[in-house]
Amino acid sequence: MKRHEFLRELHKVSANRNYLEIGVNDGRSLTLSRVPSIAIDPAFKVVTEIRCDVHLVKATSDDFFARENPLQHLKGGRHPVRNLRKGRSPIGYWRRTTLDLSFIDGMHLFEYALRDFMNVEKHSDWGSVIVLDDMLPRNIDEAARDRHTGAWTGDVYKVVEVLNRYRPDLVTVLVDTQPTGQLVVFGADPDNTTLHDKYDEIMAEFKVPDPQKVPEAILERVQAVTPETLVQAPFWRALVKARNLGVGRSRGWEPLRKALEQISVSR
Ligand SMILES: C[S@@+](CC[C@H](N)C(=O)[O-])C[C@H]1O[C@@H](n2cnc3c(N)ncnc32)[C@H](O)[C@@H]1O
Repeated sequence: MKRHEFLRELHKVSANRNYLEIGVNDGRSLTLSRVPSIAIDPAFKVVTEIRCDVHLVKATSDDFFARENPLQHLKGGRHPVRNLRKGRSPIGYWRRTTLDLSFIDGMHLFEYALRDFMNVEKHSDWGSVIVLDDMLPRNIDEAARDRHTGAWTGDVYKVVEVLNRYRPDLVTVLVDTQPTGQLVVFGADPDNTTLHDKYDEIMAEFKVPDPQKVPEAILERVQAVTPETLVQAPFWRALVKARNLGVGRSRGWEPLRKALEQISVSR
């Protein structure tokens, strides 16, 4: 399955109420969105028809997230949560907007992609779906920090190792999409500061000059699941329902984590 087809399926199964995209280019991934969206790119050149209510931001992702209330476009940065208690008005309370689906496909250097994840996570929660593109380079040249190939993943593939080591509370699912694979991250925790606290230590180890030592497991895609396995998994309906009802992390995350572990086991 090609990366945009997979993304199209994720829009469907995640039934996302909003969408954030980092790296727009000509709009081919943004055109898949039908919900209120924010799309960020300092040099977008959209030539595709866009069919959603979008705030198209001409800035780098770092500058965008440094703004006050960057998600303002998505219902003023807040959205209503249904009140489940009988006799109360249907709108129970307001809370900060949480991103349902995010696609990180901006600058293809490890430190940028990691910061994009950190910034997106601050606006996400356990029921959010965060996708990173180009996580399975096909060869060492494609994974170079200094671009010298047509298709280019850069060294963003390192994000998965960093998340697995520093954030074992998250579930990371590598997906075997064409051409260069994707990573889907579940279980976001906006209050977790580990990546911020360890940022310098992580950079000292992982930000290294070319040539990159891309692990064989990445090049061979040994840990990647098929896109069909993920989009046809049975947990999506329960995830969407719990997320839309505003079920908290303490009740929502554990069942989803267990369901995701089944996917890794069956790969
Ligand atoms: C691979 S393209 C995006 C493709 C698009 N997501 C799609 O699938 O059709 C990467 C884009 O990231 C943008 N970009 C580069 N540095 C960026 C940054 N710091 N913040 C946000 N976008 C950036 C580039 O201008 C480029 O248009």
